Amino acid sequence: MNDTNLRSDPGLALPAVVITGGTEGIGRALAEEFARDGHTLVLVARDKAKLDRTAAELAGAYAVEVKVTAQDLTTVEGCAGVEQAVRGFGVYADVLVNNAGVMWGGFFQDADPAVMRRMVDLDVRAVVDLTSRFLPGMLARGRGGVLNVSSMMGYMPVPYEAVYAASKAFVLSFSKALAYETMGTGVTVSVVAPSVVSTALHTKAGGQNCRYLLWFPAWTPEQVAKIAYRRFKRGWWVTLPGIGNKLGAFVMRFVPDFALVPLMGWLFRVRDDQGNVLWPRPLEKPPESKRAPEAAKLKAAD
Ligand SMILES: NC(=O)c1ccc[n+]([C@@H]2O[C@H](COP(=O)([O-])OP(=O)(O)OC[C@H]3O[C@@H](n4cnc5c(N)ncnc54)[C@H](OP(=O)(O)O)[C@@H]3O)[C@@H](O)[C@H]2O)c1
Repeated sequence: MNDTNLRSDPGLALPAVVITGGTEGIGRALAEEFARDGHTLVLVARDKAKLDRTAAELAGAYAVEVKVTAQDLTTVEGCAGVEQAVRGFGVYADVLVNNAGVMWGGFFQDADPAVMRRMVDLDVRAVVDLTSRFLPGMLARGRGGVLNVSSMMGYMPVPYEAVYAASKAFVLSFSKALAYETMGTGVTVSVVAPSVVSTALHTKAGGQNCRYLLWFPAWTPEQVAKIAYRRFKRGWWVTLPGIGNKLGAFVMRFVPDFALVPLMGWLFRVRDDQGNVLWPRPLEKPPESKRAPEAAKLKAAD
């Protein structure tokens, strides 16, 4: 995709760049990249006050139009709300940036099932939902693109981040397949897979004391966004910021799981503020009355 593709299309509403999670971290830095090039933005997040503040800052700094819509993308209604808002603003999604994401660190058995569901809803389902809402329009216009934000964790199974790493593997796989499907259409599908970036994500996930934060140098959101944006504009399918990540992703193809998974487990093991590793909560046995029907079913099947 080149800049010509991002110019307004006569006869249609004005093109805009829809960025989920555009109020902080990597999403905010990506918003700056697009704004610097003069693109109209539609920012999506839940916190309306933060959205308004971000919009005012970006509009002031780059003299661009910035629209906002407060939506919870863990819900189907939230994704539909983005589509309605875009239409209501009199713009169309020329570029969609699927950036919003959450992480949760710890033993899967200790996780609140609702938190796990919401993580899959935001990190996986919303990516598919929004892409299926906006990609057909891009293809019909023969221009635009989708920029997805995955992670280096998408390249491997990660104990204590089992759902998050699997969700990022989904985003990587989904993006590469769509990049191939849309080849030659004028639409770019691109994915960026950063390693550690200094944002609030890790603290929100409860992973602030994990070893990976000590062992891996942290990128700034601005560094990641600059590289991701540049390579998206040039039509690259996959962006691994930095030589270390490129090498890591290459080498990991040859490291067997019996070595890789324990290493990841060591790096991502949740620890308390004193650095002590945390253990899973002891599981309570289900009461006999609840277990009995299952046991009876198994016996009957024998
Ligand atoms: N930080 C890293 O080390 C790192 C590394 C690799 C990949 N990534 C990926 O990069 C992306 C951005 O991460 P980040 O570190 O920049 O995170 P962040 O600083 O925590 O920002 C997350 C953004 O997503 C929004 N958001 C969260 N839940 C939402 C929901 N339910 N509906 C709509 N918006 C929601 C937040 O706004 P509200 O709270 O107001 O909704 C915020 O704008 C994620 O996909 C993450 O997986 C991060």
